[in-house]
Amino acid sequence: MEDKLWENQTVVKEFILLGFGDIPTLRGLLFLVILMIYIATMAGNILIVALVVVDQHLHTPMYYFLGNLSCLETCYSSTILPRILASFVTGDRSISFTGCFLQMYFFGSLAATECFLLSAMSYDRYLAICKPLHYATIMKNGDCLQLVVGSWISGFLGNTILFPLLQLTFCGPNEIDHFFCDFNPLLKLACSDTHKIIILAFMISCIFTLPPFLLTVTSYVYIIATILKIPSSVGRQKAFSTCSSHLIVGTIFYGTLMIVYMLPDTQTLRDWNKVFSAFYTVLTPMVNPLIYSLRNKEVKQALRKIQEKIIPVKF
Ligand SMILES: *[C@@H]1O[C@H](CO)[C@@H](O)[C@H](O)[C@H]1NC(C)=O
Repeated sequence: MEDKLWENQTVVKEFILLGFGDIPTLRGLLFLVILMIYIATMAGNILIVALVVVDQHLHTPMYYFLGNLSCLETCYSSTILPRILASFVTGDRSISFTGCFLQMYFFGSLAATECFLLSAMSYDRYLAICKPLHYATIMKNGDCLQLVVGSWISGFLGNTILFPLLQLTFCGPNEIDHFFCDFNPLLKLACSDTHKIIILAFMISCIFTLPPFLLTVTSYVYIIATILKIPSSVGRQKAFSTCSSHLIVGTIFYGTLMIVYMLPDTQTLRDWNKVFSAFYTVLTPMVNPLIYSLRNKEVKQALRKIQEKIIPVKF
């Protein structure tokens, strides 16, 4: 019966991403802001990858993790921001179904990889700070490689559960009220049965976000507890501020991901969806290089060395 109804309808092959709405007076400003954010994100992260690759002093597990995180984040924001910028310039907000699917797949895979990588990094810090005597034997370069490769592979493999989406039928309306092709807004437009996919996706997002989140929080709680026992108050304060900023950025990243993908889809949450999404799509990739790398002594030294080579002046 229902199949008959759909037969007469046209099949949607293209979607319109409504983005941030269309307020002509704000368009120029919004374009500039997003362009600045994209440039800052790319510059910060590429700088860190370059430093980690070039500087011998940064060839340790911690910096390999940071290098990989930065590398991931350049890809991560490139799945979303350039398309938004292009649609501001051309005024064309449409995206093909294949384009939409690819964006969702790559974004999902990179987000999952980031979840694992952040938790591997917190575990690495836990070992370094709470088990300093055993650190070198537990975290050898080979183990670091395994954790890194494991994160990338599971991120991309886990998201293959999105492939059944390719078989869905869409018969209009075709407007996605979001700034990128995301799972829930897209699924809402499907006219085939999406029950199984929704349950599967829920399970996968629990597996990908909850355990890494818990591991991250546990590691930092242990780290902070250890730091509080440091006798010198100056050292304590410094170490504490670093860890608390990691914990805050991590919690915002995992927290907003969980709100968007794991909580039931209510109207109030839907209204906030774009705002929450902006946290894990735009904000974290931009601030992570600042929070994780550019405050480190070794990174600062590596930067200074390069700066002195290029512009031989001491600041
Ligand atoms: C990523 O991690 C691997 C394994 O530890 C390391 O060999 C590689 O240099 C890292 N990549 C970057 C860009 O830091």
